[in-house]
Amino acid sequence: MNRPPGPPGTRLAGNGPAYDKDRLGFMTEMSQRYGGIWSFDRHIVVIADPALAGEVLLRTNKDFGGEVDFLHQKQKEDDATMQQWASSRAARMRGMRPSAMQDRIPLIAAEMGREIPKWMTAGNVDVVDRMRALTSWLGSLICFGPDASLAHGLEQDLFDALLPVIRSTIVWPSWMPLPRHRRVVRANRALENGISQVITARRSQDRTDAADLLGVLMKPTGRHGELSDRILRETLAATLLAAQSAPSSGFGWTIHELVNHPHIQQRVAAEAAAVLPSTGPITSDHYTRLEYTARVVKEAMRLWPPNWVYARHALHDTALGGYTLPRDTKVMVPSYVIQRDAQWFPDPLVFDPDRWLPEGSGTKAVPHAYLPFGAGPLVCMGLSWSLIEMTLGVALLMRDFTVERAPGTNVVPDPARELTPAGLMVRLSERQRPTHSSPDEPLRRIPAPNSGCPMAAGVPV
Ligand code: HEM
Repeated sequence: MNRPPGPPGTRLAGNGPAYDKDRLGFMTEMSQRYGGIWSFDRHIVVIADPALAGEVLLRTNKDFGGEVDFLHQKQKEDDATMQQWASSRAARMRGMRPSAMQDRIPLIAAEMGREIPKWMTAGNVDVVDRMRALTSWLGSLICFGPDASLAHGLEQDLFDALLPVIRSTIVWPSWMPLPRHRRVVRANRALENGISQVITARRSQDRTDAADLLGVLMKPTGRHGELSDRILRETLAATLLAAQSAPSSGFGWTIHELVNHPHIQQRVAAEAAAVLPSTGPITSDHYTRLEYTARVVKEAMRLWPPNWVYARHALHDTALGGYTLPRDTKVMVPSYVIQRDAQWFPDPLVFDPDRWLPEGSGTKAVPHAYLPFGAGPLVCMGLSWSLIEMTLGVALLMRDFTVERAPGTNVVPDPARELTPAGLMVRLSERQRPTHSSPDEPLRRIPAPNSGCPMAAGVPV
């Protein structure tokens, strides 16, 4: 079978060392050299073209399998697992869809409004770390409402235990009794036990109809019936894990750009001061008027997508981009490269939130050129959730504080797992509140948080 062209690499180690030395740079340079589909080696193909990226993501579960999950490696792609996955995904969607998340805006804003002012210290502030703690707590609250403290923090232990496993260049099977694997198993057991306690308490006290995510998941549906306790535990554990890491990285990247662009920071602060009430609850109505801030977050997710590369594998011999990929070929889709390509985004390295205005170049980009939340059957379920957290977090921080880079610090993109702004440290000082937004920028109402959801076609959000 013919293969797409690609860099030959060294005779013994192929392209692995060059990739490990500079993952983002290697992917970018080779995509420029070899085009939208190229071979990393005999078993891995890289897709850097929006149309082909869309195909891979939309054909997931049919022709391409998703990333193998370390914790559930044994289950993989059998029919029963797919059926359970579909049931738990459908149930979760009911609890995380835009309308459900809009109802939670006052809760999220109140927690953020209480917590963010505490970040003000005389020294350096690690905003990613602070946000991670906050999003972790919000995850527990959204999942378990009044029982949040019973399982809180355990998913952070699991995340920390998983990091060395995921970052390792050698992938050992999960059944191997390595110390790092045992740590993951222990942390996962602790998290699932914590979740079980909440489920048991709900059942014994006849409180199975709560408005939180667990309450939604416990309601049987005509189509899927009742979820088993195992699926409940695994679904909630996965939700808590997803809820605490990516939004804090996305928030960190947005702050990084605002630190580098004080005039944009000023505009965000002016909008926040004009839109957010200084007393009383912040509602979905206020949120939808944070129009400029939403564009700033969206642009930060273009330049710095936390999920910067998608991993798939061919489930059988399958055609893609004029080639036939043999079964088990790995397919990597670096959204980071596509989203920085001048073919789809003019002046791609310029941080320009206004490219997302209705007539802007970003809004008119070809389908699947903007993919920070994925597309197709595995598209991110936390899209509204994370946009609300990132937008409100940025607005509340900027309303009250001027943010500057801490002296002597430097940000280095770390792509080892999620793309994170390693080394990001800032100094906060109280902001003189402007009384109105910039006169040349009238406030516009933005659509509901998820109205551009890529669920259907992977179109820009
Ligand atoms: C900036 C924040 C976030 C980003 C950039 C992000 C991105 C993504 C992406 C790209 C995927 C698809 C992965 C693939 O196709 O292989 C995904 C899946 C997922 N995300 Fe997010 N996510 C974010 C926040 C959240 C939050 C707050 C939640 C809430 C729990 C969440 C829940 C999920 C879930 C459950 C899936 C798996 C869907 C499935 O396998 O069926 N995400 N996310």
